Amino acid sequence: MARYLITSALPYINGIKHLGNLVGSQLPADLIARYHRARGHEVLFLCATDEHGTPAELAAAKAGQRVDVYCEEMHDVQARIARGFGLSFDHFGRSSSRQNRDLTQHFAGVLAKNGLIEEVSEKQVYSLDDGRFLPDRYIEGTCPNCGYDKARGDQCENCTKQLDPTDLIDPRSAISGSTRLEVRETKHLYLRQSTLRGELSDWIASKTDWPILTTSIAKKWLNDGDGLQDRGITRDLNWGVPVKKGTEDWPGMEGKVFYVWFDAPIEYIACAAEWAVANGKTDADWERWWRTDKGAGDVTYLQFMGKDNVPFHTLSFPATIMGSGEPWKTVDYIKSFNYLNYDGGQFSTSQGRGIFMDQALSILPSDYWRWWLLSHAPESSDSEFTWENFQGSVNKDLADVLGNLVSRVTKFCRSKFGEVVPEGGTLGEREAQLVADLNARLRSYEANLQAMEVRKTATDLRALWVLGNEYLQSAAPWTAFKTDPEGAAAMVRLALNLIRFYAVISAPFIPDAADRMLEAMGTTDRSWPEDVASALGVLPAGHAFTVPDVLFAKISDEDRADWQTRFAGIRP
Ligand code: MF3
Ligand code: ZN
Repeated sequence: MARYLITSALPYINGIKHLGNLVGSQLPADLIARYHRARGHEVLFLCATDEHGTPAELAAAKAGQRVDVYCEEMHDVQARIARGFGLSFDHFGRSSSRQNRDLTQHFAGVLAKNGLIEEVSEKQVYSLDDGRFLPDRYIEGTCPNCGYDKARGDQCENCTKQLDPTDLIDPRSAISGSTRLEVRETKHLYLRQSTLRGELSDWIASKTDWPILTTSIAKKWLNDGDGLQDRGITRDLNWGVPVKKGTEDWPGMEGKVFYVWFDAPIEYIACAAEWAVANGKTDADWERWWRTDKGAGDVTYLQFMGKDNVPFHTLSFPATIMGSGEPWKTVDYIKSFNYLNYDGGQFSTSQGRGIFMDQALSILPSDYWRWWLLSHAPESSDSEFTWENFQGSVNKDLADVLGNLVSRVTKFCRSKFGEVVPEGGTLGEREAQLVADLNARLRSYEANLQAMEVRKTATDLRALWVLGNEYLQSAAPWTAFKTDPEGAAAMVRLALNLIRFYAVISAPFIPDAADRMLEAMGTTDRSWPEDVASALGVLPAGHAFTVPDVLFAKISDEDRADWQTRFAGIRP
């Protein structure tokens, strides 16, 4: 039994994610987590909301809520939707947790002790009435270029000119409207990650099995000069992890917090600690996943993310971990994804374009989405969602191939032999061929799942379903029954077992349908088919089953057209 630690990029707290976000991180991570569990391995699958930073503050302000209240509510919304999609996290944590605060402060402390943190003095706008430094986008004023009176300190929205807060005419605080602003000296912390260049570059060079998408981005930033510049890890915000050196105060850092990209990846670790608390476990229980000195030596750690997240996971976070000099587990494999586009354009959260996770679940069950998204994952290039393509996949793969097989076999058996697995005679040449073909494809399916080649695994699974359909087509028990009822019964016995076999191997993709198939087959036996021939004998003659309701309904042209219009524009 192997041990897999699996994390998906942490979704920002500020709003419900769209299907493009889902397919680039959480969903493929879930596929792989479910697969390894099904093979009997020990899996810890973690995700959390990424709650700090200006976007969270702004979203809360827009919703007219306190930021901590906003985050708590939004976390619950995202957790509920994740469950709706069957995402099987062992824990869905929060980067605002006490565990993450402590660990983030701990890392800052050891990095400082190791001489990797530098204090830098900068000039920044301070608001006397708000009693705080203002980030650029929190300062408003009149644009010197076009005269627009609500220009922000970083940019004028009206004429798009890039600005410095000091360019603004009549500057005021966007928080309170106060004009009592002054420029003050303030200190910030910088992580000297450039000193780790050699170590990082050796580490990445050693990852020869990583996908090209991951290594090409990592190497570009590593060699670009820019990528490994020392980076500011503190901000003048109220919402975030307060800057401390371990448990001690940090002189000059009062009222400041760590930058969101410093604390967010540390939540991968903290989330394991949250998981332990939530499940009545001890520190040792989570440390055996994360500390190589405490049992994590044999863990394989897999990360899933969109390509925009790759630099943070190949350089910044590893710099934090390596710089600490402590025996934390580092990632073994980074699976990254390109973008999913939507009907001729991009998904866009800010413009509300595309399909969002809550909307998707309101029109169809999660398995329909899981199947389409995973079988069209943007692996080697960007991919595109169109309603025609979605309708085609669902109707062909799920309804015509898998769903139809289940319904035909169970109904035929009920009408001729009753709702029990029939006895029948012995199986022949055709069946031996089926077993051999299934076996070959299954081994390919397993190899592709092991390699996390998501699209290829979907191709294999579809091919496995098709083999069953073709077998039924040529064996035709409904015809055979007229002359050789014994032979027909044997075929049906095999076909009923095939349904259980499909349920087990399809569960990582379509877990709900798999449950319904197993329930209909009257079994809880989810053992992975190590050997296809014996897997097709699990349900013995005399075993009772039921005919399930339609497994997958076809998408009609009317529904497709209706959804197409409904989701054409801006999210209401
Ligand atoms: N919230 C970020 C995004 O959606 C991802 C953060 S991943 C983490 O792009 F590791 F930093 F947490
Ligand atoms: Zn302007």
